[in-house]
Amino acid sequence: MEKLVVYGGKKLSGTISVQGSKNSTLPILAGALLAQGEVVLHNCPLLTDVNAAVNILKSLGSRIKRENNTLIIDSTNITTSVIDENLMHEMRSSIVFLGALLARTGKAELSAPGGCEIGLRPIDLHLKAMRELGVEINEEKGNLLCVAKNGIKGAEITLAFPSVGATENVILAATAGEGRTILINAAREPEIKNLADFLNSCGAKIYFAGESTIIIDGVKKLHGCEFNIISDRIVASTYMAAAAITGGEMEITNFPVRDIQPVLDIFNSGGCIINSDETSLHIKAPERLHLSGTIRTMPFPGFPTDFQAPAMAMSTVSELTTIFIETIFESRYKHVPQLKRMGADISVEGTVAVVQGVKKLHGATVYAEDLRGGIALVIAALAAEGKTDVINLKHIDRGYEKIEDNLRRLGAEINREVY
Ligand code: UD1
Repeated sequence: MEKLVVYGGKKLSGTISVQGSKNSTLPILAGALLAQGEVVLHNCPLLTDVNAAVNILKSLGSRIKRENNTLIIDSTNITTSVIDENLMHEMRSSIVFLGALLARTGKAELSAPGGCEIGLRPIDLHLKAMRELGVEINEEKGNLLCVAKNGIKGAEITLAFPSVGATENVILAATAGEGRTILINAAREPEIKNLADFLNSCGAKIYFAGESTIIIDGVKKLHGCEFNIISDRIVASTYMAAAAITGGEMEITNFPVRDIQPVLDIFNSGGCIINSDETSLHIKAPERLHLSGTIRTMPFPGFPTDFQAPAMAMSTVSELTTIFIETIFESRYKHVPQLKRMGADISVEGTVAVVQGVKKLHGATVYAEDLRGGIALVIAALAAEGKTDVINLKHIDRGYEKIEDNLRRLGAEINREVY
């Protein structure tokens, strides 16, 4: 087993170029199944979740080569519509292969996905939308047997909630549908636009008609393409948090700054000075943050639930009190007991967490329960007095590329050790 050992108290400074977006790469890898011909994807992050998606593609018959952060995928010969249960369980996002397989083969046989550390995460919206596209679905002992007997039929679909994954599944399936699909109340996360841009580069016809309506005109066949994945807005925000909590100064480059607008507001209100252009920003933090007010997670363009935990880590050492309201997931405060072990003053009631800033956190042994909660512990450890051991790194490795190398280059005292 591995752990991160952090000696806190060092001000971070320097330049960091942001890795490719995990949440774009995963649906785009599923989308590569639709293309007959070579797909060249640049800026793919080296992460265990990306490996899991690659393994699913390989099991379906795709041929894949990796050259550093570039993946070259040829899905011309797909040999099966069945995804093995073990592969499905490796990550929750494997559910996007449902829409992709239906689009490519008219069938999909898979089990319910894994990776449910932050709440129930049902897939009812995905299944309802697939049925509306003419797919027959039988659920047997946790297995989903899905068949589009007469092909996928364009339809008007309204999502009850703008689910990111359900939106991606509809886009993927409807791309191979007959006629037009109109998706209303679709998710508006930047990763959705990135998926549509990728599929359009392969010959799909996907249009954004207003803020949350997406129109998809089905096409018969997709071809290969060369495509750049966008950089990860949550990782960019995380490095900002590392600078902010240590009173440091950082240049964060190579990402679309407009995608983190809701996050920029809290850094500004916490006393950070930020100068930015379209693809990079410079952040200079005050000696002590004065984050305060209420942070309510919302679908994009609201405050991202994925940055709730790192923002909470920052708020633990603020001069003031911050209130968090988690509206997206029902169980996303697993980092709270761990932050409390480090001396944080946090009380939780239901979906509300009240964080009374303390002067200093202290080192402790803490357990990463999920991806963003795990990185929040690393952020807190950077500012804590003494030594922190962050254990159970498998979650952090799902989303952060070379995390300890990058933080060390920025001045942190952090190492990965075997225990
Ligand atoms: C994606 C992101 C994840 C992010 C989340 C919300 C990826 C790989 N993951 O996850 O990092 O935290 O968006 O921004 O892109 N729901 C239902 N029924 C459904 C589908 C969803 O009730 O059929 C609920 C979920 O339980 C959750 C909420 O809707 O409470 C949001 O889920 P969703 O937007 O689908 O998130 P994911 O696509 O799983």
